[in-house]
Amino acid sequence: MKNFIKLISTFLVLLSVFSCQEKDQLIYKNQELSIDERVDDLMSRMTLEEKIGQMNQYNGFWNVTGPSPIQGDAAKKYKDLRKGYVGSMLNVRGVDEVKAVQKIAVEETRLGIPLIIGFDVIHGYETLSPIPLAEAASWDLKAIKKSAEMAALEASAVGINWTFAPMVDVSRDARWGRVMEGAGEDTYLGSKIAYARVKGFQGDDLSKENTIVACAKHFAGYGFAESGRDYNTVDVGTSTLYNIIFPPFQASIDAGVKTFMNSFNELNGVPATGNKFLQRDVLKRDWNFDGFVVSDWGSIAEMIAHGHAKNLNHAAEIAINAGSDMDMESYAYVDELTKLVKEGKVKEALIDDATKRILKVKFELGLFDDPYKYCNKEREEKVLGSKEVMDASLDMAKKSIVLLKNNRNILPLKKEGQNIAVIGALASDKTSPLGSWRIAAKDSTAVSVLEGLSAYKQNKITYAKGTELVLGTPDFTTEVKINTTDRSGFAEAKSVAKNADVVIMVLGEHGFQSGEGRSRTELGLPGLQQELLEEVYKVNSNIVLVLNNGRPLTLGWADAHIPSILECWQLGTQSGNAIAQVLYGDYNPSGKLPMSFPRNVGQLPLYYNYKNTGRPTLPGKDIVFWSHYQDEKNSALYPFGHGLSYTQFAYENLKVKQEGDKFFVKIDVKNIGKVKGKEVVQIYIQDVFASVTRPVKELKGFEMVSLLPNEEKTIKFTLSDKELGFYNNQGNFVVEPGKFKVFIGGSSKTVIETSFEIYE
Ligand code: NOJ
Repeated sequence: MKNFIKLISTFLVLLSVFSCQEKDQLIYKNQELSIDERVDDLMSRMTLEEKIGQMNQYNGFWNVTGPSPIQGDAAKKYKDLRKGYVGSMLNVRGVDEVKAVQKIAVEETRLGIPLIIGFDVIHGYETLSPIPLAEAASWDLKAIKKSAEMAALEASAVGINWTFAPMVDVSRDARWGRVMEGAGEDTYLGSKIAYARVKGFQGDDLSKENTIVACAKHFAGYGFAESGRDYNTVDVGTSTLYNIIFPPFQASIDAGVKTFMNSFNELNGVPATGNKFLQRDVLKRDWNFDGFVVSDWGSIAEMIAHGHAKNLNHAAEIAINAGSDMDMESYAYVDELTKLVKEGKVKEALIDDATKRILKVKFELGLFDDPYKYCNKEREEKVLGSKEVMDASLDMAKKSIVLLKNNRNILPLKKEGQNIAVIGALASDKTSPLGSWRIAAKDSTAVSVLEGLSAYKQNKITYAKGTELVLGTPDFTTEVKINTTDRSGFAEAKSVAKNADVVIMVLGEHGFQSGEGRSRTELGLPGLQQELLEEVYKVNSNIVLVLNNGRPLTLGWADAHIPSILECWQLGTQSGNAIAQVLYGDYNPSGKLPMSFPRNVGQLPLYYNYKNTGRPTLPGKDIVFWSHYQDEKNSALYPFGHGLSYTQFAYENLKVKQEGDKFFVKIDVKNIGKVKGKEVVQIYIQDVFASVTRPVKELKGFEMVSLLPNEEKTIKFTLSDKELGFYNNQGNFVVEPGKFKVFIGGSSKTVIETSFEIYE
């Protein structure tokens, strides 16, 4: 009997343990519970190695849908994936591929934790919008948000749930190839655009099937690479860091961004990836960021080459202690962190913190509730290249075009009876308009300028290439080869131009000439294009120069000779249609430059919000001792904020009124031309004297206004502490008394000015 009772009680204890476990197991899978409860429960079940696994991100490594052999690195990655030692993968795309890796994570690993799937969805997935710099030229935040929404729509339909965008690096040096990926030189415009892009990608509910996680990158300073050479050293002071570089990152947090990417560069002697000040002190402590930080590709291991870590083990220790939560392709965390924790060099609490941050985002995406929610074949087919995304891409492309010059009013073109010569290799190119960040877009899928123009059938078009721009077929990883010798097409181009009413010359950079690793020291028209332009000009000066480029170029000769210049960047899939509609005036251009165009590459870095210096003006006739160049003006050829329309706008009645600690500014803007148009009204301030010197002008607001001929509107702005203050050299935000100037107009060059004073 005693034995029987013992047996029964043992049975009951075991039963209660099992049922407890059974109940327990449901906790992290229980959708009724809060995400924090679910994360805590899951964490309590994970081994140290499994937690570290969540911090490991691998690039796609074998053809998951085919029979490719799994060897070398791929074998290790596959093994790690099955053990649950991979938290994320990038560059796996398409419903079939994503489903295949997700299935291993969910069905073969001990805890079945789903992967978060990342991809560089920079300006679209398969249907491309204009490059981000071009979109910034629209100054149209609604359209920019919409463009990110469309990118998320396509990406989420092919299994992707995390984009490495937006790049919010402010950049002032057009030599840097990645200026194409950002919002240009201004921190205020950049912050507004960062906010719009994050909102566009993430929406208000990450668990929806058409929203994806955004990533503010590259934290921090990447856009300030010395000499504009990619990956180069960055050395900037507190004032630039806090007032120029940080604000777009803060705006991304305001928009709810869930991830940050650190950066390849060192910042003031410490690589960003191993920089505790940036990641732990500023981002996670001061800004309260509760998402996670992913390293840039291999940037943990690169700390060895930087001369900051002695080996991979040391690099892993530095990176985690500094606050990098996920390792992209360095193999540092997966191979070294367990040892480091066991040796006491890394606190387990840091691993827990990083893992929790990552798991939380996966829960927010809803991946635990349905790991295959982004893997719907039908949806994939329906969404890719759909009318909705194509229409949005065309709309964004038109809004991104900037009219730099229109002297003889050649533009808009007449719709009938014109003999039009089209010249330039880029006019027929269907790949270059896609830019360099187009991993999922297929070659030759952009509408070329020639194709776009062909929709206007009442004019006669004759095309001549004139010269090849590139040799061979450029791609994502290799250097572009430029034609510098073959002029055999010049004669044909000149003869075609000679008899034309108007010559449209489509010149500029190939899409693969800007982007990552694509810095340049010369910013003129590449190859033989300048020569071609000058030759054609000799036979017919009635030229419209259509520029395709990923960065500001030096256009001194063109500005002095060519009557009309239209900046058309790389506009994505709908490029040619957008350009044709603007050339013909079916869309009146309203874009404004987000970066200054230099006169000469020697002026770089060049930006409108420079400091005055102690010697800003000529002291007397022929005296050299002032801040200038002997051989070139200081100013930009086309300044930040510049952009014309087919109509003109007049500004008058600038007024400022103070109420409490706020200043209300207003101005009347009138359309004094003949057609309807849109104008981006810009307000700048200058804090005339301060404990830390302030720029000559700083953008503090803008509004886009649409006006019919003769129509007038009053545009109002409010300036409060947020606009009038700045960060001092201790990193504290201060508003100092004194005189402030206010400028309003259609570009940063505006001279319409008033002033007010803040009293002690
Ligand atoms: C390196 C780039 O710097 C980064 O922006 C990108 O997201 C990663 N590669 C992943 O492709």
